[in-house]
Amino acid sequence: AVAGARRGAAVAAAMSVFVTRRIPAEGLRVLSQASGCRVQQWDSEEPVPRAELLAGVAGTRGLLCLLSDRIDREVLDAAGPDLKVISTLSVGFDHLALDEIKKRGIRVGYTPDVLTDATAELSVALLLSTCRRLPEAAEQVKSGGWTTWKPLWMCGYGLSDSTVGIIGLGRIGQAVARRLKPFGVRKFLYTGSGPKPEIAAEFGAEFVPLTRLAEESDFVVVTCALTPATQGMCNKDFFGRMKKTSVFVNTSRGAVVNQEDLYNALANGQIAAAGLDVTTPEPLPTDHPLLSLKNCVILPHIGSATYATRSTMAVLAANNLLAGLRGEPMPHELKL
Ligand code: NDP
Ligand code: DGY
Repeated sequence: AVAGARRGAAVAAAMSVFVTRRIPAEGLRVLSQASGCRVQQWDSEEPVPRAELLAGVAGTRGLLCLLSDRIDREVLDAAGPDLKVISTLSVGFDHLALDEIKKRGIRVGYTPDVLTDATAELSVALLLSTCRRLPEAAEQVKSGGWTTWKPLWMCGYGLSDSTVGIIGLGRIGQAVARRLKPFGVRKFLYTGSGPKPEIAAEFGAEFVPLTRLAEESDFVVVTCALTPATQGMCNKDFFGRMKKTSVFVNTSRGAVVNQEDLYNALANGQIAAAGLDVTTPEPLPTDHPLLSLKNCVILPHIGSATYATRSTMAVLAANNLLAGLRGEPMPHELKL
């Protein structure tokens, strides 16, 4: 009986996991129904306070985290040597200290593909809202600014016959291009770590340096990962090269953009407008200068926010975690 109890305790320890937020029920169910899995959770809509995170991970085998949790050396030290798997409820992994994680032999799961369509759809929605000034126009209806139909009022820019530049023709970048093509885009440009002729052929897209993409695009859409190379990539020089009539859209990570440079470009009419789903910091303080601009549309990081997508992400993140804990191949493991 003692040996049985010890074995039971060992299995429970082997499958102890900490979940850093309230997540879609379908994902939590996968974990709680897994044999031997002991789930502890920060069961709140709000982020786990740092102290609670450090306490929650102590001695755990698995961590299911969010993009808003900075998983660095401090967290890994607090977790201790038992931590074997980190599963993030996101495709982006810039919040994870990968070098340190790799050094400790911890496996990482993430959620690519399942959010590509939702994020591409939101990118297109944001682009159209920005270039056709939808929030500003809707506000005019409410405020009484709509007095009559006026030929010169509320005009914006359309996609027809335009050049669209995509920074990062990855999963989401391709899905954006696929959705924009039927709007009558004349030419696609893209940039990244190198040309991808087979993928680009679907859109007739041309690989160009960042500077040329800035100079020639009517619409710039940022869909790259945040890396040391992309951090601050859209800066004064970049915006200075864009046309006065061009529209900038970012659905990747806020830190790809130098926001002060973006503010100046928008305020000085150097570019026409910007649509951002991601900012630095998040949330953006309500008194941030960017929020004072009519030509800047800002959303609260909702790229993947459809019920179905978030549910699928949660199930995938749970299955990644369990597979990792069982020493099995994960549905989506990040190669470190
Ligand atoms: P992928 O890995 O498929 O694509 C990332 C792209 O980034 C690749 O095409 C890569 O190009 C490009 N890239 C890397 N380095 C550079 C560089 N120096 N210059 C230009 N491009 C570069 O990822 P996904 O498409 O699935 O996701 C992309 C990002 O979108 C995520 O990392 C995440 O940050 C963000 N995201 C945001 C969401 C939101 O809610 N707003 C939702 C989901 C994702 P190459 O292959 O040539 O290296
Ligand atoms: C991600 O997955 O990286 C997004 O930012 C949120 O879905």
